[in-house]
Amino acid sequence: MSETVKLILDGKEIVLPVITGSENEKAIDISTLRATTGYITIDPGFKNTGSTQSSITYLDGENGILRYRGYSIEELAENATFLEVAYLLLYGELPNIKELAYFDESITQHTLVHENMKRFFDAFPQGAHPMGMLSSMIASLSTFYPESQNSNRSVTDIEKTIHRLIAKLPTLAAKAYKHNKGLPTMYPRNDLSYCGNFLQMMFGLPTQDYKVNDVVERALNKLLILHADHEQNCSTATVRVVGSSQANLYSSISAGIAALWGPLHGGANQAVIEMLEQIRHDGGGLQKWIDKAKDKNDSFRLMGFGHRVYKNFDPRATILKVAADDVLEALGVSDPILDIAKELEQVALNDEYFVERGLYPNVDFYSGIIYRALGIPTDMFTVMFALGRLPGWIGQWKEMTEQSEPIGRPRQVYQGANARPFVSLTDRS
Ligand code: CMC
Repeated sequence: MSETVKLILDGKEIVLPVITGSENEKAIDISTLRATTGYITIDPGFKNTGSTQSSITYLDGENGILRYRGYSIEELAENATFLEVAYLLLYGELPNIKELAYFDESITQHTLVHENMKRFFDAFPQGAHPMGMLSSMIASLSTFYPESQNSNRSVTDIEKTIHRLIAKLPTLAAKAYKHNKGLPTMYPRNDLSYCGNFLQMMFGLPTQDYKVNDVVERALNKLLILHADHEQNCSTATVRVVGSSQANLYSSISAGIAALWGPLHGGANQAVIEMLEQIRHDGGGLQKWIDKAKDKNDSFRLMGFGHRVYKNFDPRATILKVAADDVLEALGVSDPILDIAKELEQVALNDEYFVERGLYPNVDFYSGIIYRALGIPTDMFTVMFALGRLPGWIGQWKEMTEQSEPIGRPRQVYQGANARPFVSLTDRS
């Protein structure tokens, strides 16, 4: 017999089914609760609420496990290309040689963006934050591909939209960077890999013959894979909720980019470097910052520390800590910020406050140090996160539509004024 739980409400016994995941995770199914009892549940920040049953990413925060479609993040980061991982997230299996060749070819064909988009970029002030530009540009793609707005779109249209998005995001991201710096943009090059092409659009100039550095390309590939999905996080939940209204995929992804921008989510990678720079310039030692982070009257938090789900260690941070050393050594870069980061990690990991609350370095703690070594400026870090997260967002959107999930619409408990008569303007105190 399937497992159930009993709930006593107003003296009546309610039997609720228990759902067991393929890794033995347990959930109480309350989907009929309001209809049968009039009660809802309340859970600010959705800390205990599962919004879906998904077969994309498995995350065990207590044991630091992260798997995409069953494959460990460690193995994928070591052995796969970002496009193979994107395919895996979108279609459920790693591609064979033929499937990968088709996918690669299709992505490569769609890398150009409409020439009119140049005029959008021209209208942004110089120095505009690349995340603001990226989110707007992705939403604007739906105006160039109006078939994406049709809620009865065909499978072929959806497929084309997905490939276009994966192909065009690097082009738009590099354009956002070039605009921010006032530099000439580069067209995509179809003879390069996904990461190599992005690097030439970022760092290439019409006056030079840009050569992709292998170390940089491999590091970027690894970073993108590590960011590619993370189950129902803030931006992914946003993409699913926006998409659940049948808004087009471009708009759903644009909303995801906006959600990612915040410093408590993807914006933390920028905030980490800004914090480490601040600590370096201050020069007054680390304890002061640890104390500030612990002080409940001070809004300062140790950026890159803590995670809603990981309460032991973030496996992505473990991989990136090693990668940071390797990349800096291979590129011959020395960055005093890396030493400060390692020292800060040691101090925090030995402090009762952080230990008690399970606060460990997260993916954003070391990623920024690698991005810096690759020559990527701080305000592009969250854009890099978006590039990596894109296949995850799309895979999750695809799963949500294929499962015909209902529109996302939480309830609330109203705590405002009770009904009262209107008071005319002259009678108001
Ligand atoms: N520095 C100091 N104290 C912290 C920190 C931190 N970075 N993170 C959490 N705490 C404390 C918090 O004050 C609270 O203490 P108390 O129980 O005494 O009130 C306790 O730890 C639990 O924190 P919370 O805010 O309730 O936890 P949450 O699950 O709601 O938030 C978080 C998770 C990631 C937003 C938070 O840890 C944080 O703000 N970290 C810094 C920002 C950051 O690095 N974000 C990137 C996350 S990884 C990338 C991604 O996937 O988005």
